Amino acid sequence: MKLDMSLSKELIHKAKQNVAGGTSSTMRLPTYHLPLVIKRADGVRVWDADDNELIDMNMGYGPLIFGHRSPIVVDAINKEMELRGTILGFVHELSFQVAELIKKSIPSIELLRFSSSGTEVGQTAVRLARAYTKRSHIVIFEGHYHGSSDAVFHKYHAQLKDIEDVDIIDTLPGCEGMGGAPRNVYRIPWNNFEVLEKVFKEKGETIAAVIMEPVMGNAGVIPPVPRFLSKVRDITKEYNSLLIFDEIITGFRVARGGAQERYGVQSDLTMISKAMNGGVPISAIGGRREIMELLVEGRVFHGGVASGNPMCLAATLAVQKEYEKKGEEIYISLEDKSNMLRDGIIEIFNRLEVPVIVQDVGAMISMAFVESKDIKRFENYRDIKRWSNTNKYIKFQHELQCEGVYIHPNHFEPWYLSTSHSYPIIEDILDKIEKVGRRINWNDKELNM
Ligand SMILES: Cc1ncc(COP(=O)(O)O)c(C=O)c1O
Repeated sequence: MKLDMSLSKELIHKAKQNVAGGTSSTMRLPTYHLPLVIKRADGVRVWDADDNELIDMNMGYGPLIFGHRSPIVVDAINKEMELRGTILGFVHELSFQVAELIKKSIPSIELLRFSSSGTEVGQTAVRLARAYTKRSHIVIFEGHYHGSSDAVFHKYHAQLKDIEDVDIIDTLPGCEGMGGAPRNVYRIPWNNFEVLEKVFKEKGETIAAVIMEPVMGNAGVIPPVPRFLSKVRDITKEYNSLLIFDEIITGFRVARGGAQERYGVQSDLTMISKAMNGGVPISAIGGRREIMELLVEGRVFHGGVASGNPMCLAATLAVQKEYEKKGEEIYISLEDKSNMLRDGIIEIFNRLEVPVIVQDVGAMISMAFVESKDIKRFENYRDIKRWSNTNKYIKFQHELQCEGVYIHPNHFEPWYLSTSHSYPIIEDILDKIEKVGRRINWNDKELNM
């Protein structure tokens, strides 16, 4: 099926004359992305330059938990514009009001600081851990992404040939120009406690922290295997290392208190953003008081002109108050709709005899096409890299976009639900998935190369 995308195509061409690659994030326009320039957004829907209407399942890569242009966020910003404006450069009460509500949801956070992006708080988390423990090294997992700072940006989507024969890799820079960073990193496979134990036995005295997405969301959705998080918690305590949960995606999404609430394991430091704020550029790093106090003492520096600005904090306060008011209701409903979507997708492709793997935790889902029904689950990055068929996923995404549903064409990107995805919308998405599933010739040679 073909849609008219000519205006989008033309605008992208124009954009490329002035903006490197036509966009300000490399993930947004990979070569295999169909032309798509959005001119309007509302709730679950976006409209492109050619007036095609799409149900959005990307939701700004996760933050838009109440949908596009949610009145919760927009009204709060408008009100704040009449009071303090965008950036203030002074202390104001919104910061401790928001901090209080966040602490109520995530009890492991005793003190916190606000920043503007996940990248910034990832860098600060690593600095805090090294300064607190007076140790050099960080343990990172394959497939996990913690922002693009030199502290942690590794080749998280490495080629299999570069990782397959080794369990512990010292460094794998994420891109050129990093001068050898990230430095002092041990990189290991996710969900493999034996390798983690090995790295601690061999190098424990050097390990400042283990950093992880407690539910991996940057190589599809890969939950921790049973007891993995608690074992990591135990071993980090045993060796006096810190545990950093990067809950940029999972915080306020897989439960109000994030993965740490869902799995009952607390971290020493936590990074949060996305669903914390409903779609404004603000993040936070928080954790045990004695670690966070290194910032107070000035032993570790953290700043930022836009850090804790009133515009973003006003929106975040409104979002946090909504969580406070609606409590569990939001998460029960999100989870129910997410289960409906997951079960529906599995049922459709079972009927079509097209093997797929669908994995989800709360309102984050991912799917991948695999070659055989014998493949049942992905437990780490190597599994998904080895077994998933990206050609089929890209074809499926292109057809689905033409049918009126947008998912990101990279199968590593989860699908995100928002409260504005109603039951009839989930039904509509499933109908469209079925149509597309029937239309594609899954035996096409090109899809199976
Ligand atoms: C788990 C995780 N950590 C950190 C980041 C970096 O956040 P930002 O893009 O705001 O720097 C992301 C971004 O998607 C993320 O998914």
